[in-house]
Amino acid sequence: MTWEELENACGSCQKCALGATRTNCVFGTGSRNARLMFIGEAPGEKEDLSGVPFVGAAGKLLDRFLEAVDIPREDVYIANILKCRPPKNRDPLPAEEDACIGYLEEQIRLINPDIMVCLGRISAMRLIKPDFKITKEHGVWFSRDGRRICAVYHPSALLRDPHKKEDMLTDMKAIKAVLDGKE
Ligand code: URA
Repeated sequence: MTWEELENACGSCQKCALGATRTNCVFGTGSRNARLMFIGEAPGEKEDLSGVPFVGAAGKLLDRFLEAVDIPREDVYIANILKCRPPKNRDPLPAEEDACIGYLEEQIRLINPDIMVCLGRISAMRLIKPDFKITKEHGVWFSRDGRRICAVYHPSALLRDPHKKEDMLTDMKAIKAVLDGKE
């Protein structure tokens, strides 16, 4: 599949009930040549309205961490497990993830990143392992189809509990070191 075919398929998708309630499909944004890819959970209200991932409060906080470790947002690719917003931002249903995951897998295939970073538990449980424990295992490196993959706290979790920001900075510094080939 080409990028155009993939984006069109995603934009007209009705594989699950969220297709009927979305304002916009939130496909993904950033460099299609990225070596580093971030994967969140699902669009929120601001993302649904704009069609761009991580533009709300959580996205602004993610931007601050990217800046702190000197990773330009335009150099990475950012996408979500679900491309459509679940009502009232509830957790994705397993059936919704199953219906949607093929789009993300195709994005990963097209980008072919060296490093993938899951933003939060939901993404880590889908992409790393079903029993992933974010409190214990954030910042731990795993392997997925020959790529390095880890998870960090979801920026929304940092908004709820600012104490986690210290761990987030440590993890982001380690990601930058791997990106720079220093680890
Ligand atoms: N939270 C997510 O997981 N993804 C977004 O795009 C926005 C908020």
